Amino acid sequence: MSKSARHWYFNQRPKGDIDDQTLVLREEPVPELKDGEFLVRSVYMSLDATNRVWLSDWDIYMDPVRIGDRMRGFVIGEIVQSRHPDFREGDLAAGLSSWSDYIVDNGTAFQKMPPIPGLKLADAFGILTVAGPTALVGLMDVGQAKAGDTVVVTAAAGAVGMLVGQIAKIHGCRTIGIAGGAEKCGWLKSDLGYDEVVDYKNENVVERLRQLAPDGVDVHFENVGGEVLDAGLTVMKDFGRVVICGLISTYNASGPVPGPYMFRNVIMRRLTIQGFVILDYMERYPELQLKLAGWMQEGRLKYRLHVVDGLENAVGALKLLYSGGNQGKLMVKIGAEPG
Ligand SMILES: NC(=O)c1ccc[n+]([C@@H]2O[C@H](COP(=O)([O-])OP(=O)(O)OC[C@H]3O[C@@H](n4cnc5c(N)ncnc54)[C@H](OP(=O)(O)O)[C@@H]3O)[C@@H](O)[C@H]2O)c1
Repeated sequence: MSKSARHWYFNQRPKGDIDDQTLVLREEPVPELKDGEFLVRSVYMSLDATNRVWLSDWDIYMDPVRIGDRMRGFVIGEIVQSRHPDFREGDLAAGLSSWSDYIVDNGTAFQKMPPIPGLKLADAFGILTVAGPTALVGLMDVGQAKAGDTVVVTAAAGAVGMLVGQIAKIHGCRTIGIAGGAEKCGWLKSDLGYDEVVDYKNENVVERLRQLAPDGVDVHFENVGGEVLDAGLTVMKDFGRVVICGLISTYNASGPVPGPYMFRNVIMRRLTIQGFVILDYMERYPELQLKLAGWMQEGRLKYRLHVVDGLENAVGALKLLYSGGNQGKLMVKIGAEPG
């Protein structure tokens, strides 16, 4: 009997927020495998803030998803059929592929991902695929953080931000997390070990940062952009480093985005501002993942996974990233974990 697969397709470019017409779910037969191909049964899919960027008409850091294409996403799954010599039935494989429950590949998108001793599949995939390497490279390579530095992190309770603060603590930094609401801020302090927190929804961020870092900030790790970035630029130390990891507050903008208004501080404080994209660091993944997995196994990195069940719920889940409705690393569970 022929098998069918469900795939999300890019249907209509959103003007502003993603809506019900942006992506559509279609069911199609799974084609017969050719020599050199294998069939992946998806288990987890990562939802990332940049998914909205891929749907834009901006000139971005990689090919955008084109209207009519399957929606792109990081997936981990189990190989359930194979005509490829290196991928066997029962192997786990992960890669940048599509929002689908069954995927045919030839080893272009997927690579084998053996289980990591002591780590659950969801934890390994959720933390080691995007968020962990991004946090580590962004803070240590781009931000050049060192012991004694004061580090500010925005969207600090999100997937990347929750890890940046802890990696900074591991390296002897003092950390200030900025997040929205009492629950997230409380969690940052009580569970993640952030030294200080700022609730940008209920506090004056510049005033609070001045109180918490009267001598200024050495490293500002930006995930949000807009007013929060301006507040960060206002309180930098001379020769501070500003890491532009993400600008999520601008991804749904339908027109030009103003600011940052405190850009003059790049001169006044002689700042270094650097953006980066984690895909440029793929060659270093083995080393980065080894280090992160070690900290996870030792219990030195804590995290929350926000797992939404069902491929059909992926679009609703993605919207959580832009409203702050996610609590930690957002992902979709598409199928059962291999027995
Ligand atoms: N450069 C890279 O290679 C790379 C790789 C991965 C991720 N990133 C970037 O890292 C950032 C975090 O991405 P993620 O996928 O890990 O998501 P996430 O941090 O888990 O979730 C996004 C969080 O951003 C905050 N947020 C959303 N809209 C906001 C707004 N308008 N103003 C202020 N805060 C807002 C919300 O937290 P609150 O509830 O606290 O508001 C939300 O929970 C994104 O900017 C993303 O583009 C970059």
